[in-house]
Amino acid sequence: MASEELVRPVEAAEDWTIPQAWDRYTAAEHAMWDHLFDRQAKMLPGRVADEFLDGLDILRLSKAGIPHFDELSDRLMRATGWQVVAVPGLVPNDVFFEHLANRRFVSGNFIRTPEQLDYLQEPDIFHDVFGHVPLLANPVFADYMQAYGEGGRRALGCNAIDKLARLYWYTVEFGLLRSAEGLRIYGAGIVSSYAESVFALDDPSPNRIGFDLHRLMQTRYRIDDFQQSYFVIDSFEDLLDQTLNTDFAPLYAELEDSVTVAPDALLADDVVLTRGTQAYALSKAAAA
Ligand code: PHE
Ligand code: FE
Repeated sequence: MASEELVRPVEAAEDWTIPQAWDRYTAAEHAMWDHLFDRQAKMLPGRVADEFLDGLDILRLSKAGIPHFDELSDRLMRATGWQVVAVPGLVPNDVFFEHLANRRFVSGNFIRTPEQLDYLQEPDIFHDVFGHVPLLANPVFADYMQAYGEGGRRALGCNAIDKLARLYWYTVEFGLLRSAEGLRIYGAGIVSSYAESVFALDDPSPNRIGFDLHRLMQTRYRIDDFQQSYFVIDSFEDLLDQTLNTDFAPLYAELEDSVTVAPDALLADDVVLTRGTQAYALSKAAAA
């Protein structure tokens, strides 16, 4: 993931990469990976997009300790030409985009502590690798992520990072997919979260809205709790088609920075799959 106003740690290279230092993981850290992997792998069938499960298979991700990035990159390279590189944590936007545009996915090399089992602020290796990397073995999604990196470079020039970041958030991190068998999760933020894997699909609280690029680029999002709206794509092909073949520059120009849509709002033109009760967010707000 990317962020702004970060200082490059002394141990990081100019492109912010660091060695994974796989030998330094402790037995407890490998056990943490295994625990998280097991918990998600049991829950995901019937909930996650088939393409994600295919990716786990192709990359042979498993409950056998924290993956070695070199091995993972070898398999990923053979599948779609992508690699995984280690970084200390969040990296600046321009660095993030440059890596994506070159088919390199940046991943934190650290894993959460037992106290952080269900919530952590910075993405760890479980979120980054388990959540993001399986779909990178899918040729269509792999192309989407590269195109996103290239789009990021353009957005920097258009001063439109906020708008493009919303697209990442509502697809790559929190996207839902309408498959022939029903609604499925595919966003990494959902797939790597035990609680949100259930909430995003089954809870009556959030809105579930048909994907609409223009609408989505105006929609603010929550970084502190479950999403109040999820956007649903019809297929990865359709997502790639709609984004790759649209010039975002006129869209950015058209969308005023001051006009945004609240995370829980429904608009007249929305294709509403679920009109959320927002009961979860309301109860949280009442308790605060
Ligand atoms: N088409 C976008 C642009 O003109 C780039 C992009 C492609 C962004 C795919 C995201 C995903 O900037
Ligand atoms: Fe992420």
